[in-house]
Amino acid sequence: MKLKQKDSQIAKLIELETNRQKTTLQMIPSENHCSLAVREALGSILTDKYAEGYPGKRYYGGNEFIDKVENICIERAKKLFGVEHVNVQPHSGSPANASVYLATCQAGDTIMGMALPMGGHLTHGFKLSFSGIFFNAISYGLDEKTQLINYDEVEKLAKEHNPKLIWVGGSAYSRFIDFKKMGEIADSVGAYLVADIAHIAGLVAGGVHLSPVPFVHIVTTTTHKTLRGPRGGMIMVTKKGLEKDMDLPKKIDRAVFPGLQGGPHENSISAIAVCLKEASNLAFKKYATQIVKNAKALVEELKKYDFNIISGGTDNHLLLIDLRNKNITGAEAQNLLESVGITINKNSIPYDPAPPFKPSGIRIGTPAVTTRGMKEKQMRQIAGWINEIILNPKSVKSVRFGVNKLCKKFPLPK
Ligand SMILES: Cc1ncc(COP(=O)(O)O)c(C=O)c1O
Repeated sequence: MKLKQKDSQIAKLIELETNRQKTTLQMIPSENHCSLAVREALGSILTDKYAEGYPGKRYYGGNEFIDKVENICIERAKKLFGVEHVNVQPHSGSPANASVYLATCQAGDTIMGMALPMGGHLTHGFKLSFSGIFFNAISYGLDEKTQLINYDEVEKLAKEHNPKLIWVGGSAYSRFIDFKKMGEIADSVGAYLVADIAHIAGLVAGGVHLSPVPFVHIVTTTTHKTLRGPRGGMIMVTKKGLEKDMDLPKKIDRAVFPGLQGGPHENSISAIAVCLKEASNLAFKKYATQIVKNAKALVEELKKYDFNIISGGTDNHLLLIDLRNKNITGAEAQNLLESVGITINKNSIPYDPAPPFKPSGIRIGTPAVTTRGMKEKQMRQIAGWINEIILNPKSVKSVRFGVNKLCKKFPLPK
């Protein structure tokens, strides 16, 4: 109400975006719909407070209640993921990863991560990211035939280059990750192993993806993807991490503040605490299970329409499609699908011959539609629409009508 009176221009745009989300299907794998409870905490008066430092050791007064909020958030994360130490202050996933570098490496050190075009993240050593600019980044990839992580190649590269730190995890990898194998490789060369579970955090919390915690030293994550919280980041130190370096928690905390950030966003931290509480209950386990069931249902139905699924399937919340047999680029498919209210993103496929801005594939995810309560039946319907619009771009009107009807039946969460 207040916003409308004070700034009608922004209020109108928020209203339009709300309507867009209500009337279309959000199927970008890194997106979700958080609860109203999370948004209430996020939009609270906590945004006004400066709290540089950590609970009990702040550089500003007036943090009696803020300290309690941050401690609750830390304790909930420790319990949910079974880790020894958590920093909940990173503003998002990339600053969390930057802080890990600052805590463990020096400029010029060798690091290893999955290549961006193979499904890795920018911060894992991509040449245009700080991680590729300040570090000697070695990239590993997927096996060309199976399109799965090539653990033999990872081992060979690790032995050859002796990295200080190895990343495991990615943004467009749809299969289970063998954290145990990665742990053995990192141990054999004495490297820090960091699992970036930004995409699968909710699946790990819900028990439908193997947890990296027993096998890695550090875990980073965003809080806004499958975990279904506000935008934010966390860095966790495991028991194995403490055994490797007792000072890791101190190093991580110092890297986040004062190393990389100033005042933490305590409104976000309170909202992360709310999402962690939500993620601890049985309903969330069911939600995580359904996310994967839905992604698998989508894969199976799309295969019937001769869509070429990278690696032949999915074990998590996302799938990658190679569109080359459909005579359409990823960018064209993204636009076509957007015109009927299905929001996905164009994506490079492993060994993509096409440039990154016009890649050969698309990436689709089920976290947000599952939050709306959709199940396998609706996934089959959506797969049918994806096929229809790609086969016959003239069918926009009828497909858009179907999408609209489905969205009305499955409103956004309250
Ligand atoms: C694996 C992975 N790590 C880190 C990030 C970075 O998160 P943010 O965009 O919040 O900086 C992402 C974002 O997509 C990601 O997929």
